[in-house]
Amino acid sequence: MGNILDGKKLAEEIKSDVKKEVEALNKFGIDVGLALLLVGDNPASLQYFKTTVGTCRKVGITAYEYRLPRTATLNEILNTVHSINGDERISGLLLLMPLPVHINARRVINSIVPEKDVDGLGAISVGRLAADESTFQLFKGGGKDLHQYFKLLPSIWSFLPCTPYGVIRLLEHHKIEIKGKHAVIIGKSLAVGKPLSLMFLAKEATVTVCHRETQNLAHFTRQADILCSATGKAGLIRGTMVKKGAIVVDIGINMLKNGTITGDVDFKPVAEKASMITPVPGGVGPVTIAMLLENTVRSAQRNEIIKSPLMIV
Ligand SMILES: NC(=O)c1ccc[n+]([C@@H]2O[C@H](COP(=O)([O-])OP(=O)(O)OC[C@H]3O[C@@H](n4cnc5c(N)ncnc54)[C@H](OP(=O)(O)O)[C@@H]3O)[C@@H](O)[C@H]2O)c1
Repeated sequence: MGNILDGKKLAEEIKSDVKKEVEALNKFGIDVGLALLLVGDNPASLQYFKTTVGTCRKVGITAYEYRLPRTATLNEILNTVHSINGDERISGLLLLMPLPVHINARRVINSIVPEKDVDGLGAISVGRLAADESTFQLFKGGGKDLHQYFKLLPSIWSFLPCTPYGVIRLLEHHKIEIKGKHAVIIGKSLAVGKPLSLMFLAKEATVTVCHRETQNLAHFTRQADILCSATGKAGLIRGTMVKKGAIVVDIGINMLKNGTITGDVDFKPVAEKASMITPVPGGVGPVTIAMLLENTVRSAQRNEIIKSPLMIV
């Protein structure tokens, strides 16, 4: 049975650090705020909305709750985003997905200013990740060593998407070497698979990305030293598809008919072959929220550093 890659413990550590950093900013009279924007009432999104609001409170971040009806127009949503963009109290914006089908989601995501794009999904943030302009955060204690970046232009600062960033942090927390390893990622979405592949490349892994059109998926998964699945297909990864000793990261979240939550991985047989494996729930999920909060406090810190270069936080 492989060892468990526990995300809850890491998430608690990250949140505890965030709390201290929020308190340090509070001493300068700076409140850290995260806006959450939910359009409609998708149950999973509403659940994530509420959980995030509760977690913000625990670390001292003020949550600004914005809710629009499912019938909201694109212009109404954009106006809300613009008002958040200009609100000095707010350091980051989480836009809950999916948006209603009549809304062009990319248009809305790209209207978030990069400085507040703490979910890292806007075109500028994604471009900076691809151009290796934001990947330094993967190497320096989560971007904590801010002072050495004073010399860098503010324009290169943007945030890494929370879920893939959380995967890298989870692996590193468990002292798993990435450099030189073969990372196989299943899923190529903009939120998870694609940015995760870029992060693994930045960490000098050899990367294979699989998706729905991949022929003979098992041929690729069996080659993985690190196998990450982000498809939303329960039971996709079976025991026979995994190399003995592999590290398995299950990013999928699936609600079964009986109400239980499961990942993409058939846990028991895969855990018997893997050297380490994430559970669902309790693996990548808790770290994702922790990374969102960390990005939010970084945004507040960077904003102050840019405006008051002598400030030490
Ligand atoms: N743990 C967390 O914090 C967290 C955060 C975000 C998402 N998630 C979960 O992660 C999963 C993926 O999320 P997402 O936003 O990336 O979803 P998505 O946008 O629907 O993307 C799913 C990806 O999986 C691929 N795929 C689907 N079925 C496949 C199959 N049978 N074989 C191979 N590839 C397949 C798709 O390929 P094509 O591109 O070819 O269609 C697509 O690239 C979901 O379960 C979601 O709930 C978890």
